[in-house]
Amino acid sequence: MSNLGDSAAVSAAVQSEIDELRHRINRADFLYYVKDQPDISDADYDRLMRRLQDLEEQHPQAITPDSPTQRVGVAPQTQFAQFQHRTPMLSLANAFSEAELRAFDRRCRQTLQIEPDERLQYDCEPKFDGLAISLTYVNGVLSAGATRGDGHRGEDITHNLRTVRTIPLDLVQVKRDSPDAKPVPSLIEIRGEVILTHDEFLRINQERETSGEPTFANPRNAAAGSVRQLDPRVTARRHLTFFAYAVGTYEGIEFSNQYEVLCALGDWGFKVNPEVRVYDSIDEVIDYIGEWGKKKQDLTYDIDGMVVKVNSFEQQTRLGFVARSPRWAIAFKFPAEQVLTKVNDIEVNVGRTGALTPVAFLEPVQVGGVMVSRATLHNEDEIRRKDVRIGDTVVVQRAGEVIPEVVEVVKEKRTGDEVEFVMPTKCPICGADVIREPGEAVARCTDIACPAQIRERVIHFASKGAMDIDGVGPALIDQLLADKLIQDPADLYTLTVDDVEHLERMALKSAQNAIGAIQASKKVTLDRLIYALGIRHVGDRTAAALAQRFGSIKALSSASVDELAEVQDVGPVIAASVVAFFAQDRNREVIDKLRTVGIDPSVEERQETAIFADKTIVFTGALQKLTRDQAQGLVFKLGGNSSSSVSGKTSLVVAGENAGSKLEKARSLGVQVISEDEFLEMVSKAEQV
Ligand code: IVH
Repeated sequence: MSNLGDSAAVSAAVQSEIDELRHRINRADFLYYVKDQPDISDADYDRLMRRLQDLEEQHPQAITPDSPTQRVGVAPQTQFAQFQHRTPMLSLANAFSEAELRAFDRRCRQTLQIEPDERLQYDCEPKFDGLAISLTYVNGVLSAGATRGDGHRGEDITHNLRTVRTIPLDLVQVKRDSPDAKPVPSLIEIRGEVILTHDEFLRINQERETSGEPTFANPRNAAAGSVRQLDPRVTARRHLTFFAYAVGTYEGIEFSNQYEVLCALGDWGFKVNPEVRVYDSIDEVIDYIGEWGKKKQDLTYDIDGMVVKVNSFEQQTRLGFVARSPRWAIAFKFPAEQVLTKVNDIEVNVGRTGALTPVAFLEPVQVGGVMVSRATLHNEDEIRRKDVRIGDTVVVQRAGEVIPEVVEVVKEKRTGDEVEFVMPTKCPICGADVIREPGEAVARCTDIACPAQIRERVIHFASKGAMDIDGVGPALIDQLLADKLIQDPADLYTLTVDDVEHLERMALKSAQNAIGAIQASKKVTLDRLIYALGIRHVGDRTAAALAQRFGSIKALSSASVDELAEVQDVGPVIAASVVAFFAQDRNREVIDKLRTVGIDPSVEERQETAIFADKTIVFTGALQKLTRDQAQGLVFKLGGNSSSSVSGKTSLVVAGENAGSKLEKARSLGVQVISEDEFLEMVSKAEQV
């Protein structure tokens, strides 16, 4: 045998040590993560793992996907592949009251022809508030894991799910000796829920808060976000938990009821909810669910209801399905938990778009297992509608999806000392004027340099449609802001290569490129600069119209609401927004700074009596020598207006290459059509005059 052959095979001794290590690590994982009863110390565990890693490094051909070393997470993916479920993943019909549970029982009995006094066995389980997934095991080895998706097709998230310690990579028969233990089948889809415990959820959010990332609203969102990570190493750090509760397709095995399934899942190494019960009547089910209204707060994770399933598979088959839910199961949803607490204060939070959001600071209370000390009040109108005052006793709720909210005020508890909230007229962050535009619920800070808004402003300023500064995106802007190298968009122009080179992930070349792009952007046209300023309601089209009408930032900044409103497409809302923008000293400062560094474009004065006076000109097709903007600028300068559609009012159509329907229409209306060259000739003659 050749040397090559020798290196491809692993000696029996090494293989047997690897097998033994894997077995011991898997068992330790199971006892620690699934059973919460570790049998070896962390140090011993680490030693086993390190030894296995060493052996696998020396003998890479011995690595298998089910080795416990493979849980750490492989390299990021660019997107998830689709995954077709062999058996669809269905949803459940909901019940919100005892009456609805009894109606469910009646429907089942009717179809199954079971008399009211005969027993009908139900399985009753807590309903996890996480993310449903499906795991496929082939000959006991985890081969695929997928999200539910639309029930038929989900996303293949195998790499991420491998990092979840409560998902066995190998199914083992823990209770080999039990007479009713199920053998590991040749193929099985296992369904269950990936969740985050409250502790882990809080830890992740704390970490995100420290690093300036947005926090998750609740454990379910955090679990869903963690499982759908393109980088499995991120998922691995999130410490998710998996609970199994159902099976999809399976081959080479038989089940006669749901309870049997849960027992087998537990035997094969899955975490199964220990609170599952089987009852012979809906009355007992209702009693049990009743207990849970309170009991659910003692759990270390979120449940949002209880699932009731007809236990027998034979009966389940007879009951069948409606639409996308089985007739044999129903989810009882707990009402959103509400508690009373006191509003200690109402403060205003300034968001990135300058929106001011009032927030109630509460006397801390437990709501649905989570400590709550703040609740959003949305906006001023909400506060008035609910009449929430500082010092009020309020009902707070945390419904599945949302961050805590104030439901209502307990007016009987008022003492007369409560203080009404007044929306500040100055931004609490920077002191600039706050305006609330007519018809808008949201009040906003008007200062371009407000730290709360500045990031978003600079990003917009540098973006493609605005100053188009290549290489200056959100990541660099965040670093520049964090290092206090910039405080407003104008500061970009005083940055040096040296300033930028020393930032993280930057090198001389990338710094030179960024500074080069910043300097190049100084040659901006007026319309783009107006757009780049990020004046509310002023999009690129409005910016172009304003540039044409006013010709310079100076003229625009001193325009009155009436003058502004005369411009085509500019209504009173836009006019007021422009005036408010230039009324802020800080905004004027930014504009002064831009002028100082050489940014002050202008549009040449319009010649009201020139050749295109009172004419409407339409450009169509691709121009070769001019851009559309330049061509329209020339028309404007020479007294005319341009339009995008041909009508009886069109004076002239300039047809570029591949002109289509507009050209046809011009011809049919008898409108004069000229070429780009003829247009340029007209312009040059006019300019010589
Ligand atoms: S059984 C045919 N059992 O609830 C239905 N589902 O609305 C099979 N869920 O997408 C599901 N805990 O994400 C079942 N103990 C439990 C559950 C549970 C949570 C979720 C699951 C499903 C949704 C249905």
